[in-house]
Amino acid sequence: MADPGTGRMSPTAPMELLVRGGTVVDRTGSRRSDVRVVEGTVVEVAEGLEAAPGATVLDAGGCVVSPGFVDLHTHLREPGREEAETIDSGTRAAALGGFTAVVAMPNTEPALDSAESVRNVHALAQGAMAHVAVAGAITVGRAGERLAPMAELAALGVRIFTDDGDGVQSAGLMRRALQYAMDLDVTLAQHCEDKSLSGGGVMHEGAWSSRLGLPGQPSEAEEVMVARDIALARATGGRVHFLHLSTAGSVELVRRARAEGVPVTAEVAPHHFTLTDACACGFDPVFKVNPPLRTDADVAAVKAALADGTADAIATDHAPHAPELKDLPFDEAPPGMLGLQTALALAVTELALPIEHIVALLSWQPAAIARLDGASGGTQGGDVAPGRPANLAVVDPVATWVVDPAALASRSRNTPYGGRTLTGQVRHTVLMGEPVVIDAEAQR
Ligand code: DOR
Repeated sequence: MADPGTGRMSPTAPMELLVRGGTVVDRTGSRRSDVRVVEGTVVEVAEGLEAAPGATVLDAGGCVVSPGFVDLHTHLREPGREEAETIDSGTRAAALGGFTAVVAMPNTEPALDSAESVRNVHALAQGAMAHVAVAGAITVGRAGERLAPMAELAALGVRIFTDDGDGVQSAGLMRRALQYAMDLDVTLAQHCEDKSLSGGGVMHEGAWSSRLGLPGQPSEAEEVMVARDIALARATGGRVHFLHLSTAGSVELVRRARAEGVPVTAEVAPHHFTLTDACACGFDPVFKVNPPLRTDADVAAVKAALADGTADAIATDHAPHAPELKDLPFDEAPPGMLGLQTALALAVTELALPIEHIVALLSWQPAAIARLDGASGGTQGGDVAPGRPANLAVVDPVATWVVDPAALASRSRNTPYGGRTLTGQVRHTVLMGEPVVIDAEAQR
């Protein structure tokens, strides 16, 4: 059983593992190197290493070997919606996507707003195929009225708080939450959506919503909350992480705030850099997501944000939904789509960025935001260096594959990418020294 939280070696890890023939990429740069792992810890990073007798050897020829990916935005659905996903199935999908850690969103049933609920997820996640870091709710029941006992949750190791699925509507409550967050040294992650502007909208408000006769959410529903929270972060000094940014206006606000030194970070979800509101033309609810798919100009803006450092991370917003719900008419179906197994490939296929930049967006940059990196005493994010815990993603950046929804590890099937040929494949994933994925196959 792997225990990536404590930094102990997985008891099922081989004594020695050699990742051979790849190019190691981490914050310090890239170099041709083999990686020797003994008892869950990287011990040697050099070219031409010989495998010890009995060692497990992973072929990384033609591949990039990077610190394992960290997803800042995963809906694992347990407890409460186990028909859609469980911690077991969701972390298997994560491992297959190259993720060695995921931040589990608290919009479960019940919401993760108490010490008991956080302890429960920690217990369920023991032995999972990826480290599960719990995001706590900012408000009780995510209802936006009273603050959750943030100090109790922080004492259990919670480092990110969010009401994701909803934004905190009250500016006063958000300011108070930020003041507590400062004291507790935690980050607030905001789902930016002003309900007085978005209420009732099921897609982006624009030419396509008019044509289709569907109620829309204007870009401003997101942007006014981004602007508000930048002001609150500036005023309090508390850190705000912006979840799933989707509009050109949001990106510009964050770009200026960062230039000014306001403590904000941001993520972009793969669907927001690959799909537009035109996808809703056939009323297929697989394209319904919140925030909604936007316009070509917005897609160009979020891609630019990923390229120029305005956005720190690609985060999946992996949002499984059972078919009986997702097959409802567009306006009734819940928003969300799967993301863990396609994130790397969508980034390689659709972003004109070097692979080193893409793995930074998936690995050490989100690890630092989640405070799971070495600087925070965690096991994620690299560097790939002697003494570090062996959490690794081995990626073939030129391999192509076809997305088969039926073959995904998730309990749900709501991906819009079925049948798409993508470039970039996760070949192996190593969790605390244990190869949990070998040749794109889950090992347990
Ligand atoms: O599309 C979404 N799905 N956006 C959210 O904010 C919530 C998520 C979910 O939980 O299904």
